[in-house]
Amino acid sequence: MEIDGLTFPEALKQLAERNGIAMPKRNEYGDPESKLRTALLEMHEIAAQLFQSNLRGPQGAEARAYLAKRGVSPDLADHFMLGYSDSGGQSLTRRLAQEHFTPEQLDASGLVRRRDDGSLYDSFRGRLMFPIHNESGKVIAFGGRAMRDEDQPKYLNSPETPVYRKTSVLYNLHRARDTMRRASRAVLVEGYMDVIGVYAAGIKEVVASCGTSLTNPQVRVIQRLTADANVKAGTVIVNFDPDNAGANAAEKAIQLFLDEGMHVRVLSLDGGLDPDEYVKQNGPEAYRAKLDSASGYFHWLADRARVRFDMKTSDGRMDAFKFLLPSVQKISDKLERAAIANDLAGYIGVDPGLVLDQFKRAAAERRTPAPKAPARPAIPGIENLLLQSLLASDEVRAQVLPVLNTEGFATREIFDAMRHQQESGAPVTFSSIEARLSPSAQGLLHDIASADEMIEDAVAREQAQACLRRLEADHRKRQVDDLRAKVKAAEREGRIKEALGIIAELERLRKEMNAAGVD
Ligand code: GTP
Ligand code: MN
Repeated sequence: MEIDGLTFPEALKQLAERNGIAMPKRNEYGDPESKLRTALLEMHEIAAQLFQSNLRGPQGAEARAYLAKRGVSPDLADHFMLGYSDSGGQSLTRRLAQEHFTPEQLDASGLVRRRDDGSLYDSFRGRLMFPIHNESGKVIAFGGRAMRDEDQPKYLNSPETPVYRKTSVLYNLHRARDTMRRASRAVLVEGYMDVIGVYAAGIKEVVASCGTSLTNPQVRVIQRLTADANVKAGTVIVNFDPDNAGANAAEKAIQLFLDEGMHVRVLSLDGGLDPDEYVKQNGPEAYRAKLDSASGYFHWLADRARVRFDMKTSDGRMDAFKFLLPSVQKISDKLERAAIANDLAGYIGVDPGLVLDQFKRAAAERRTPAPKAPARPAIPGIENLLLQSLLASDEVRAQVLPVLNTEGFATREIFDAMRHQQESGAPVTFSSIEARLSPSAQGLLHDIASADEMIEDAVAREQAQACLRRLEADHRKRQVDDLRAKVKAAEREGRIKEALGIIAELERLRKEMNAAGVD
């Protein structure tokens, strides 16, 4: 109901249609609101067909030539149901008059306008028409592009109507949604032509907000469709025009996506090209390669910061880092957050120690005392320290996990989950580890990481080494105690030969420990 702006009976009817379930026959839904919406959808369907047939007919010659010039094939034009509104200003008005629509419904449609004398004329005249669909594929509005430079505005869009809420509609969403779901990815561009160009390059998961700046409802639609079955956040690649307006819009869009917990990458194309032009000049493969190599938003933001601040001074670099910090702190995954903060510090050249300070201070401010959770079994200190160092450093994980024996660990499940994640080759993040754990082990993991501290690589390395030495020593000590108990038992029962054998083994162990410097 919310997404498509439907009443309950309308939503019911739509779901029934979509799933092939018969609805009890009723000609229309009683309340005036749904009557109006039904009429508006019918008008838009009629208009879309009329515009399409105009484009194919004799009056569409100029528009067809324009499309050809811009590299849009007739097939592609069909696929996007592109059309042409002829310049006479009467065809749609006349066509709609043949139907049963009331004057109120016609006025509400935005498709026709009324003169002072009460007569009607077409809103769109002499324009290339882009139908805009809702998520379930019904035409709800149009964008009309002028084909000559002297015709202004360049794009004329439908006004808001009861079926067209600009702030929650995304162009091409109904074609993109399946691929968005499957790929857990969306590409966001600025314009209609960009969508068509990118779609033609084989990227079906492309949508645009079209003219208005991106809104939170639009972001939530993208978030919902790209989240995978485990409700893990999806990825959005923002590919706006490389001009200043595009960059500013991208900066805002990034924040909105981060607020919804999405993974954000940014593609800015070289040569000052928008996505449509880039595909046309360099071909689909080149564009797809660009998309796949789009970098994390923070590198893009860092490049913006480099321009804005004086990077020659350490104050300037610190200001740049502070400018970037809020975006970093929106990353919900602790490991990713820490890694990115370090990465950024290196990228813009500020002292990692300073970064760490800023980071801790901001974390402390952010932290609000949480209600005490029910007590969980205490985690042995050594396991706690070891886990913290493993969480902090890729390098330490690579060194320690393959050789670590976790037998008897209270937190064995966490270590094993981390090892499996590491072996899978996928990035080891806090949430990827968490996803592999039972609820009780998830609780343990949160206890360990709740300090929200990040330790530097060097510290992590040292700490892990110390833990390993300590574990090794404990292990030996248990072995020795065990053997001593056996010696005693053997002596008591007169099995002297066996006792001597065990003593020899003890002696060997002691020598080994001395050699390894373990006490
Ligand atoms: P082309 O010039 O045809 O390549 O357009 P484009 O799709 O690349 O669009 P552009 O980058 O110029 O603008 C991005 C989007 O903003 C367009 O697709 C429209 O949705 C919207 N837009 C652009 N110009 C106007 C305008 O004059 N009025 C309105 N209402 N919207 C516009
Ligand atoms: Mn363009």
